[in-house]
Order: sequence, then C-alpha cells, then structure tokens
Amino acid sequence: MNGPSLPPGPPRKRAREFAEDKLGTTAADANYSPFVATSQHQISRLIDLASIKPEDVVCDLGFGDASLICGVLEASGCNGLGCEIDGNLVSSARSSAAVVKLGDRLVLTEDLIEPYMESDGFKAATVVFLFHVPDQLAQMAPALRVFLSSRPEVRIVSERFEVAGLTCSGSVLGVVDDEEAQSEAGDYFGSRRPGAFLYNSTFVAEASESEIEMPDGLKLEGIREAKEENNFIVEEMIERVYFKGHGVRIEENDEVWDVGAHCGMFLWGAVREAEGNFSYVAFEPVERSRQALTKNVEILLGRSGDWKIHGLAIGREAGEAEMMVYPRMPGNSTLEDYMSERREARATAMKPETAKRLEEGAEMVKVEVRPLRSFAGRPTFLKVDAEGAELQVLQGIGEKQWEALRVVVGEVHDFDGRLKAVKGLLEGRGFSVRSEPAGGVSDAFILSAVRRL
Ligand SMILES: C[S@@+](CC[C@H](N)C(=O)[O-])C[C@H]1O[C@@H](n2cnc3c(N)ncnc32)[C@H](O)[C@@H]1O
Repeated sequence: MNGPSLPPGPPRKRAREFAEDKLGTTAADANYSPFVATSQHQISRLIDLASIKPEDVVCDLGFGDASLICGVLEASGCNGLGCEIDGNLVSSARSSAAVVKLGDRLVLTEDLIEPYMESDGFKAATVVFLFHVPDQLAQMAPALRVFLSSRPEVRIVSERFEVAGLTCSGSVLGVVDDEEAQSEAGDYFGSRRPGAFLYNSTFVAEASESEIEMPDGLKLEGIREAKEENNFIVEEMIERVYFKGHGVRIEENDEVWDVGAHCGMFLWGAVREAEGNFSYVAFEPVERSRQALTKNVEILLGRSGDWKIHGLAIGREAGEAEMMVYPRMPGNSTLEDYMSERREARATAMKPETAKRLEEGAEMVKVEVRPLRSFAGRPTFLKVDAEGAELQVLQGIGEKQWEALRVVVGEVHDFDGRLKAVKGLLEGRGFSVRSEPAGGVSDAFILSAVRRL
C-alpha cells in the first residue's frame, strides 16, 4: 500500500477529532474519511473506467498525498485539481507534484470538500474521484447529483463504496486489489469489497417531469399531481414532528419497516437523520406510488442496498380487500373498510377544491392484505401511515416483533375512537406515546411512540 500507514485508534473517532480540529466543534457530527491512499495498480483501471482523455480535468476530492491524482495525470496527459483538509498531506502532495514536474497542470488546494465544490475551480472538473466512507459519500450525494445533472459530460468514480443517493450508471470494476484488500485499509474502511463505481448523468437525465426537490436539494421521483401532498408529508410529519419535534432517532442497525411507504418521503427523512446504517422494508399497495418509491429507494439507498419493497396492504389478518385509489393524491388511498368514515371526516375538513381534486379518477382496486407477523424479520423502527388502517396494522404485529420494536411513528385517523385505541395499545406494550393534530385533514393526528426503558 502507498502512503503513510493508518493512524492508531478507532478510525471514526480519529476522523472526527481531525475534522473538529480543523473546523471547530460544529463538525462533531461529521464523518470524515481518514487518509488511505489508492494503490498504484488501481490507477490504470480507474482511467479506463472513467474513459479519461487528455482533454479531461480530473478532480480528486480529498486527494490525500496526491499519489492518485499525480499518477492519473502522468498516465493520461490530462489536467487535474483537488482539495484536501489535512494541511500536512497538502504540503507533501505539493512536493510530490513538483518532483514529477506537473507544474500548472495540477492545482492542489487546502480546503474542505463542501466549500470547494462551490468554488469556480471545481466547476472545471470533468471527472471526479471519491474515496470516502459511505456516510460521508451519502452526505455529498445531493451536491454531486446537482453537479451531474447540470453537466452531462461529467463522470464520477467512487472507490470501494457506492454513493447512496446516486444510481450507478457505468460498469462496476470488480478489481480484487490483493495488496490493498488484504491490508489494514480494508478493515479500516469496514469493507473488503473491491472495485469502483461509475456515475454519469444518464440517470439524472432520465428523471421525469414529476421530479420533486426535497428541502436539502435532492431531486426525487414524485407524483406530479401530488406535490402538495408530498410537501405536507415532508414538512409537517417528517421534518417538524418526527425528527425535530418528537426527537425520534434511527440508530445503527435499526430495521426500519415503512407501512404505507407512498413514494418514499419518509425514507428521505430517515436517510438524512439516521445515526448509522439501517435496513429498510417498505409496504405499499398502490402501484403508482410504488413505482416512484422504487426509484427513490434506489436513489437513497443504492441499488444493492439492504432494502425490500412489498406491493401489498397491511392489516390485522391475511385476505383480500378493495382499495380506493386516488391517483391525484395517492397518499389518501384507503381500504374500503374505512372509506365511508373517512369521507365524512374529509367532507368537513378539506377545502372543496381539494376534495374535488382528490376524487378525480378515483377507482377501486383489489389488493392483497397481510399482517406484519407473516413477514420474516423483526422491525425495530416502524412507521405506519395507512389512511385509517393504523390500528389493524398494529394488531397484526407478532409477539417477537413487538419485543424487537423500539420506536413507532405514524399518522392516525381518529374516527371511532381510533386514536385512543392506538395509544392504549402502544402504552400497554410499554411505549411512551405523544400525539398532535396533523393539520390539514381534521381527523389526522401525528404520533410517535418510544419504548420506555
Ligand atoms: C481515503 S483518502 C483518499 C486519498 C486519495 N483520494 C486517494 O484515493 O489516494 C480520503 C482523503 O480525504 C480527505 N478528506 C476527508 N474528508 C474531507 C473533507 N471534508 N474535505 C477535504 N478532504 C477530506 C482525508 O484527509 C483523506 O486524505
């Protein structure tokens, strides 16, 4: 392996201290990747993967000792640039670049990636190299996505890890780099998976006109007519209540189950707020919502991430049911059993024009219903937004699954004393429950329940 050996001590902590030192205490939550150099025999493969030509400008975000970027420039004849947070590495990188006489073909800047990506210098890049831990890559994803969508010629190559939030558009280089894979670096980065992933604008160009922009700038697949509904879900439920107001947390290794996943808005919040890696299982019976959901899960967790989507409804018992699907506001689609009560509640709560829009094109669709206990796995974090079927969803949870559950969040429609029943059930299972009116439709309450210690 090239470059200095790994620093002693637990890697994540070391990387954080390093960032704090540079940035002050505000960086306490940052997940900065430590320095591990790309091995020299990887260089020609990266050049091939990104089809680097002499006219390219290659940027290494976090160039370390610059052995990678210098090697690429020497081998391909292109120009280069990059930034690096660690001043000592920047000095040695500049000396190395001088030794190989790269002169003004290479501009090495001491800076953090985030501000550097806003600079004019960075805008010249046509190829971007990344070698970072997954958490850091995920944080960079929105800015990378914006960069890709505005620049069709740009290629991004991520070493070892996929970028959650981008869809891999090129071939995966299955390189077993023996030396590095066997070295401490493999352990240090928590993965021995070799290879590099290529991203270009192909995926971004495919984004449809129903694209929605999330508060952090990330573009997700939405449902064109349902933008208002999505904004409500994101701003009211996810941002204001779950994570900020009620302070619920998604912890490392949580198994997140999302009942009534719609097009994945909750997952967006989960990815942003999670304190570690989590697995994700979604249940969504409405096909149109599920199509958007599938794209968004790929964007948010990567194609090969730990996730699964089930196309069915969840209830207390297995069976079949008629579902009223509202194509213009699919988040309101509801099982027949609960429909008449909900219609009444809506008639008094919704503005007449909203109610009219809701009903347009509405149709009954047969759906399969299953209880959660019929699925293998033990959710630790459950989100339920099932338009009136919340109580039934909870009643279908298996005993072992109850034991595993730590947090339940969701929307509850309070007809027939449902809110009281849902709260009673959760409290009886040892949870502390908070709820508040959701705004909008008057029978809706947002609820969070955390297991009492
Ligand atoms: C795994 S090393 C890769 C080095 C080089 N790109 C290579 O492949 O040989 C990651 C580098 O990114 C730097 N780094 C991590 N977070 C950074 C940030 N937010 N801004 C600038 N540099 C950063 C680290 O100091 C480290 O040198």
